Amino acid sequence: MDALSAGLKKATIATAQRHLFLCMGPDCCVPAHAEALWEHIKQRVRETGVQAMRTKAQCFRICTGGPWIVVYPEGVWYGDMTKERFERILTEHLIGGAPVSEWVAAKNAHCTL
Ligand code: FES
Repeated sequence: MDALSAGLKKATIATAQRHLFLCMGPDCCVPAHAEALWEHIKQRVRETGVQAMRTKAQCFRICTGGPWIVVYPEGVWYGDMTKERFERILTEHLIGGAPVSEWVAAKNAHCTL
């Protein structure tokens, strides 16, 4: 397997059902908190077998009320993310398929959920 094919496979592009982007700050949140949250998200996604790619983002231009996480393809945005809040999002949204509506801060216009 060549390097490109290996990279695409490692990124799980062919099998991912969702893609999570987490803002790592520095303006919407404390970067150290976002880093700890990132490690938690990685661990929990692995443990649960959720088919989701994960990417660190460096600012969505919201710059307050973070850390922000956006879930694609739905285009659902959650702010003020914590490990505890992520657990509910993991269970209800990423596994169950239903966004946690009271925590949805914004969603893309094409979102039908
Ligand atoms: S630093 Fe997170 S949205 Fe700008």
